Amino acid sequence: MTSTWCCDILSFVKELDPIQGVAQRQFDKQSANYGKSHILQNTDDLRSTLNVLKPQRGQKLLDVATGGGHTGFYFARLGLDVTMADISAAMLERVQQTAKDENLTISVNQHPAEELPYPDASFDLVTCRIAAHHFSCPASFVMEAARVLKKGGHFLLIDGTVEDGEPEAEEWMHQVEKLRDPSHNRLITPLKWAHLCGHAGLRVVHSEIQTMKQPDLEWYFNTAGTCAENRVAVRTLIATAPGSARRLFRLAEEDGKTIWWWQRLILVAVKL
Ligand SMILES: C[S@@+](CC[C@H](N)C(=O)[O-])C[C@H]1O[C@@H](n2cnc3c(N)ncnc32)[C@H](O)[C@@H]1O
Repeated sequence: MTSTWCCDILSFVKELDPIQGVAQRQFDKQSANYGKSHILQNTDDLRSTLNVLKPQRGQKLLDVATGGGHTGFYFARLGLDVTMADISAAMLERVQQTAKDENLTISVNQHPAEELPYPDASFDLVTCRIAAHHFSCPASFVMEAARVLKKGGHFLLIDGTVEDGEPEAEEWMHQVEKLRDPSHNRLITPLKWAHLCGHAGLRVVHSEIQTMKQPDLEWYFNTAGTCAENRVAVRTLIATAPGSARRLFRLAEEDGKTIWWWQRLILVAVKL
């Protein structure tokens, strides 16, 4: 890939496939909503991985699809040498501003997750949190993550998931997410992630589902800028949700708000 400099952001973006293009436009438009006010600012999930990752100061970390940068900054504050990458220039500009405000030194690169512009064995850690459900080709992403990791390096994948063996609830959640956010592609089950890792030469050493309360459907709509027509369609899906989805996601009304509990996969794998 060729590279160009733009406002200290090194861009490696060539032609994007349609799914990547939709994601880029969506996050360029909505970037203001992914900063400090976002629920991803809560990094308890990252803290819970430290005993497995055992990160060391000075290690090189690539944070793929960095968004508002909550993951990359978490590790930069621990003293790691962090490269933050995303497909959206608007997201990366915000990340740069935060780095300046906090006096943190990071590298900022624009490229898709499916094609990483780094030599083999460049990083000690590759992280990707709450983003892979947007990717056009998760298999290529995992292959690329494995390629750029050093032997013994760690891959940390955190993303929304639906536990294995729940196809009806999975399909329901897929429809809800597609309507809410046009850049949503697909949630992947834990077994499928494990399979992708194995195929890429990564050994899964930790895999767990944590649940996280979705605070309010309206906040969630506003964050993604969901259009009025799709908000109506999502509310209809919620009103007619099958029992499997109601049970699995603990769909409920609380103080006039529609809430549910996400399933979030925390997976750590080691490069063989
Ligand atoms: C919810 S945000 C990520 C949150 C972030 N990782 C964190 O921990 O706060 C999702 C990000 O994925 C990025 N993205 C979506 N598809 C992508 C792709 N194919 N390649 C790279 N970035 C992508 C979007 O631009 C967006 O910034």
